[in-house]
Order: sequence, then C-alpha cells, then structure tokens
Amino acid sequence: MEILDLKSLPLGMFKNTHQANKKEINHIKKLNFDKNIGGVNITTSNITVLDHPIFKKLSKLIDSNAEKYVTDVLQVDDKIKRVHSWATINYKGQSHGHHKHPGAFVSVVYYAKCLSGVFNTAFDRSAIQDGYFFDYGIKNFNKYNSVTWHVKTESGDMLAFPGWISHGSTSNEFDEPRILIGANYFLKGQVGFKDRISILNL
Ligand SMILES: [Fe+2]
Repeated sequence: MEILDLKSLPLGMFKNTHQANKKEINHIKKLNFDKNIGGVNITTSNITVLDHPIFKKLSKLIDSNAEKYVTDVLQVDDKIKRVHSWATINYKGQSHGHHKHPGAFVSVVYYAKCLSGVFNTAFDRSAIQDGYFFDYGIKNFNKYNSVTWHVKTESGDMLAFPGWISHGSTSNEFDEPRILIGANYFLKGQVGFKDRISILNL
C-alpha cells in the first residue's frame, strides 16, 4: 500500500545553531520581565529584544532560519519581516502554559539556555478526528492519530512553526534558569492576488 499524506504541519528543528555567550545571557537576565503568563512574570515587556546590537549576529541567524523555513519548507514565495522579539525566563519549577502567538505568520524560538525542556504542542484532536470527532483506541501513535507532540530542546536549538499552533513547555527542573528568545514574523510587501480579490499591501 502506498500512503500519500494529504495534509501536514512542519515543525522546523535547527539543532545547535548558536551557543549564547555570557554577555548575551547577562544582557537577557537584566531585561525587565513583567508580563504575567500563568501566574509568574516570565516574559519581557520589551518586544524588540533582538534589535539590540548585542544580538546582531544572533538576530541574523534567527531571521535567516525563519526565511529558510518559509521558503524551503513551506515553499511560500512571499517575503517576511520580524515584527516582535522577546525573551522568556523559567526559574526552577516554572513552565510555560499553552499559548499561541497572535499576529505571527511564523515564529522562531531560540533556546539560549535550556538544560531541561520539552516543547509541547496542544492540538485538541488528531488529523483523523478533524472531520468526525470521537475517540479511537490507538495501537501505535503516529502522525495521523496523535493529538500532542513532545519535542526535547537543548541550549542552542531553534524551532520554527506557524504562530497559530498552541504550545507550551514542561517545567524547568534545574537551578539554572531556562532562557528563550521568541521572534514573530509576518508577511511583507504585496501579498495575495488582485484577480482573487485577496490582494494586500503590507
Ligand atoms: Fe510561545
């Protein structure tokens, strides 16, 4: 039997892209973390964190991986621009509750410091439940019948994904804080087509 996948969602994993140096880590730690997610202040109020000169090299790398994901994997021909960038910090025992990235076409998460971490997706149903929703007994989990995915992440990794995917993390098990930088990208320029009445000038 030949199987043709009818629909799919790619999570882009870039392993060991850049090991953050002490200067970068200290810079992030000194940022003002005042956004409250799930009862703890873990997200920066600054949403253009990557514009700081200290991240000149890192921001180029994150941007180029976002472009690679959109161009090579999604095969979307439109251009993208970075619209938000922020940092998050999880001290021992803290985690990220499930959330989405509103305003993003795609997002990239960079794991600046991550001794323990799992990126969890939170769909509410599997692909085969999309059109007719009831419970199945599952012999072996695969991409057709799974509802959640758990992806182990380490310092230096980057993940790229559509911003609407609900995701969260397990709690940090270590004394060393877990530090991430997130970046949202949106389409730019002329998007869509006049003859389909979908054209947008962004
Ligand atoms: Fe997120």
